[in-house]
Amino acid sequence: MNTPGLTPLFDAEGKFIWNTLEYNGHKLYPFPGLKEKLDLYRKSFPVFDDDIYLLTYAKSGSHWLFEIVMMLTRRSAEHRKETVSQHMLEILFDPTAKQSEGCRVISSHLPPSVLPPDMLNNKSAKFIQIHRNPADVAVSYRHHLSNKVTDFGGHLTHDWESFINQIFCNKEKMCNLTWWNYTTEWWTEFKDNPNYLSVFYEELKESPVKVIGEIAEFLKIGADKKLVEEIADQVSFDRMSEGKRKNEILSQFYRKEFTFYRKGLVGDWRNHFTREQHERFMRHYNQELQNYPELHQKFIQYLQP
Ligand code: A3P
Repeated sequence: MNTPGLTPLFDAEGKFIWNTLEYNGHKLYPFPGLKEKLDLYRKSFPVFDDDIYLLTYAKSGSHWLFEIVMMLTRRSAEHRKETVSQHMLEILFDPTAKQSEGCRVISSHLPPSVLPPDMLNNKSAKFIQIHRNPADVAVSYRHHLSNKVTDFGGHLTHDWESFINQIFCNKEKMCNLTWWNYTTEWWTEFKDNPNYLSVFYEELKESPVKVIGEIAEFLKIGADKKLVEEIADQVSFDRMSEGKRKNEILSQFYRKEFTFYRKGLVGDWRNHFTREQHERFMRHYNQELQNYPELHQKFIQYLQP
């Protein structure tokens, strides 16, 4: 629990939640070596004109978006052997290494105020963000964290009530910001940037061919209808969980049975929230997004009881 350089956080009853890395006013998920990496990258970060940055709040469909973008940029509907972790700024991505094929695809869960300025100021790069309604994110997040076996950042033993009430909604306790802070920070800074595209998990689920076609168009990839349809088929939940799980390299930090492909549904939150929890969550939602009518409007349709 007491790890040098990290700050342990406790809930209202004094129970340990997790260790966080305090950085630039944020409490970050303490991936090993993250502070040193950020210190270095924030001074200087090599960029290329054709870089693609994938920005995601955890549990919003990072693996899904990554696979789609890799397939589109490589013009092949085959599942890739590599995983998101290898392309993730916070984990294994090496900005000094030369990419062997195609453009660089770099993924991150970090907020803009922590990312390297060179990356954010790269005027010709493309930024794609996948958003997902916060109630489904909360359910998926808790499942993820309760499958951790060490306290390096997670190992969450809290029950569902404490998780949504004290942790998920609480900016003092949540790593990598709360969903609200993360989503509104990116939205404020990037929504009018012509090189930024917002993708919504729920719309991708409902109309994969349409949304994948929009991503291809945004990236100016001349993907024909056949390729887009093949990709949509290969990245369906069933095919992804079957095809990618074989290659999934799960670190020792997860329980054996854990998978990034749990249910892949819109509205699974209804199986977890009580009526009272939902009402409380919605009060929080209305308050946090009151100054962001476009975002408020977008997600509300997925949050009806
Ligand atoms: P659930 O836990 O609700 O099932 P991330 O990749 O950011 O960690 O997000 C994981 C979530 O995305 C999980 O949600 C996972 O099942 C879902 N997901 C992954 N691939 C998917 C796909 N092809 N279609 C729909 N959902 C997918």
